[in-house]
Amino acid sequence: MIDIDNYSYIETSRLYLKYVNIDNAQDMFEYCNDEETVFYLDFDRHLTLNDTINSIKSYFMLSPFGKYGIFIKDNDKMIGTIDIRLNNNEYSNLGWVINKNYRNKGYCSEALLGLISFYSSKLNIRELYAIHEVSNIASERVMDKANFIKLNKFFKKEVKKNERTMCIHKLQIKK
Ligand SMILES: CC(C)(COP(=O)(O)OP(=O)(O)OC[C@H]1O[C@@H](n2cnc3c(N)ncnc32)[C@H](O)[C@@H]1OP(=O)(O)O)[C@@H](O)C(=O)NCCC(=O)NCCS
Repeated sequence: MIDIDNYSYIETSRLYLKYVNIDNAQDMFEYCNDEETVFYLDFDRHLTLNDTINSIKSYFMLSPFGKYGIFIKDNDKMIGTIDIRLNNNEYSNLGWVINKNYRNKGYCSEALLGLISFYSSKLNIRELYAIHEVSNIASERVMDKANFIKLNKFFKKEVKKNERTMCIHKLQIKK
């Protein structure tokens, strides 16, 4: 049986990952309110801070295992989130988003590597899958940098009433 308290905090060189709570609503609203940021995500743009608070309560706080805010150590700002869903299959174990003011600094990759290393040291994980929309080059690059292999397997997924083409990547952890 997993004690979720043992999974509540993960540290990397510039960041820490921590379960999300209501105190983080303003930082999360900053990027969830941005249409461009949520384009590839499967939820609609948050119009009010209350939308963000509701999402934190219903998604993050109700079952926090595997769902983390990404915080910069230097200023405790929450710049995004990263999720690992271990009961999933090749249609994605992982998800992430970074506030656009903090992109292309390696933060998502650092968070992902920290998360994978932490979980694979504690649990018997053989492989992980991640998916991205084919046009989402930044997300694909994050997968590349974490040594995921592109399977060249594609499938269609409806995101916000539009059909999108997704590509599957796999990371082999144990043979
Ligand atoms: C995907 C996302 C989380 C990446 O966050 P990030 O912190 O910028 O990621 P990193 O800095 O670790 O890596 C991004 C890489 O993509 C590259 N990149 C970004 N935009 C690119 C583009 N248009 N073309 C080519 N490369 C691009 C960056 O140069 C960087 O690679 P490098 O380190 O080799 O230079 C961020 O872009 C985001 O939040 N996007 C919107 C939400 C989203 O798409 N979530 C994923 C759904 S599958």
